[in-house]
Amino acid sequence: MYTLLSLSITSSVALLFWKYVMSKKPQRPYYPPGPKPMPIIGNFFDLPTKDLANVYLEWGRKYNSSIVHAIALGSHVVVVNKLEDAAELLDRRAPKYSDRPEYPILKLMGWEHNVALMRYGEGWFYRRKIAHQIFRKESVKNYHNVLLEKVHAMLYGILKSPEQFDQHNRMLSVSIPMKTMYGYDVESIDDPFVTGADKSVTLGLEFLVPNASLINTFPILASVPAWLPGASVHKLFAEVQQLTNEVFRVPMDWAKTSMIEGTAVSSVFTEFLERKNTVGASAEEEAAIADIAYTAYGGATDTTTSVTGSFLYYMAINPGIQAKAQREIDGIVGNRLPDFSDRPNMPYVEAIYREILRSSPPVPMSFPHRLMEDDHYKEYFIPKGTIVFPNIWAMTHEESVYPEPFTFKPERFFDENGKLRDEDRILAFGFGRRVCVGEQVASATVWLTIASILATFNIGKARDSSGNEIPIGDEYDDFGLLVYKKHFECSITPRSRDHHQLIEAVNTSNA
Ligand code: HEM
Repeated sequence: MYTLLSLSITSSVALLFWKYVMSKKPQRPYYPPGPKPMPIIGNFFDLPTKDLANVYLEWGRKYNSSIVHAIALGSHVVVVNKLEDAAELLDRRAPKYSDRPEYPILKLMGWEHNVALMRYGEGWFYRRKIAHQIFRKESVKNYHNVLLEKVHAMLYGILKSPEQFDQHNRMLSVSIPMKTMYGYDVESIDDPFVTGADKSVTLGLEFLVPNASLINTFPILASVPAWLPGASVHKLFAEVQQLTNEVFRVPMDWAKTSMIEGTAVSSVFTEFLERKNTVGASAEEEAAIADIAYTAYGGATDTTTSVTGSFLYYMAINPGIQAKAQREIDGIVGNRLPDFSDRPNMPYVEAIYREILRSSPPVPMSFPHRLMEDDHYKEYFIPKGTIVFPNIWAMTHEESVYPEPFTFKPERFFDENGKLRDEDRILAFGFGRRVCVGEQVASATVWLTIASILATFNIGKARDSSGNEIPIGDEYDDFGLLVYKKHFECSITPRSRDHHQLIEAVNTSNA
């Protein structure tokens, strides 16, 4: 009996002692699941540089977790595949998750003026506040005339050369920010400013995905001379930097000259110069306006081009949806072109707008957010400095929320009584304090484009010389963070003689 008792006491003491020792032993941080890291390099070779959204969604399935983790050369990356996690971390815990990663290559490419990539801090905050004033819903009304003018020009372009719809699409998305920011009318997409900006963005964007450039991980490599073997990427950075400097400076110089010559057109930058010349403005404000105008160009063009390209694609392969939208538009506008006042009366067109951004978000993984202090979420530890990506594409293809996620179905946004649902948060614009500041401009531009093209044209599959329909594939071009519908052939024809004349008439009155 005593023996049993003393055995039991001894084992209880041993258990307590063991628990005490374990509680003092440093616990291994429990990161969210992900591929097993290798010594030193970690998951360097696991991190994808293409098709990111799909690969990270696959990781989620493989590791049975909506939030996945990797570590490469000491940098942690967390990808959030579900809305509830993104809403908790990036929206509700926004004060911790609103930084951007430090990218040493930004300076090498001259991209440090880009507000979207600035670190969280006073400089960004000051610019974000001004940008919010410029792009909020009420202010966007000031740009309605420019949007109408440029969308009508696009209709005319398509009427004259429908096979070049890609160019007309590009022209629309570059001409709006150039006119609203600097008062500059882009005459053609061969404008050296536009070609320079395009090249600078497409060359540079691919370097922003994790591990696309070793310089982001080892900043010391930034000082390796460009002539050393293996440093050829520096030459590319130098080219991007030169282009970026021109893109930043040339339109501002042009706007300043137009002010001096008295030919300036009202725009964000010229209005600022006007104010500076009359009541005065600080150098800090001037630098901020310059950064915002430059960022708006980059932020607006590629994303809008991507959405409009997807729109034409979805209409070409869905004639029934197109016809339904056209019936709605005809019932509202009769024999004129759509205007912004028509928007509340066109719920089906609204649903098409939402469905395009759901099916094909132009920035499928949004932009990287950086965590500013250690955090715990669910049973996981997320260390300070972790780069967090919300996988927007995975969220908008979540079967339990969007049944048949790969089917283009605007009807999903209506309730059982046929009423458009109130909830209109569009995930494609991102999260938290870094959510897209240009959402209202983008929404107005894309909505007007959709409504105006559907009002006047029929979009369908092109036919080959034997009269057979040319199939359209579903591939997208992948530029790391940004995706575009791969070029496809389609037929775009005016819906009637009256529609043809309507476009001609509007073009004449705008000329
Ligand atoms: C359909 C078109 C557009 C889409 C899908 C889009 C999407 C996005 C996304 C995903 C982000 C990152 C959000 C985050 O970090 O969570 C972003 C940021 C940003 N966008 Fe847009 N965007 C569009 C159009 C525009 C336009 C027209 C402008 C300017 C007029 C603009 C200006 C910006 C800026 C300045 C930021 C950076 C915000 C910050 O870091 O504080 N975007 N956008």
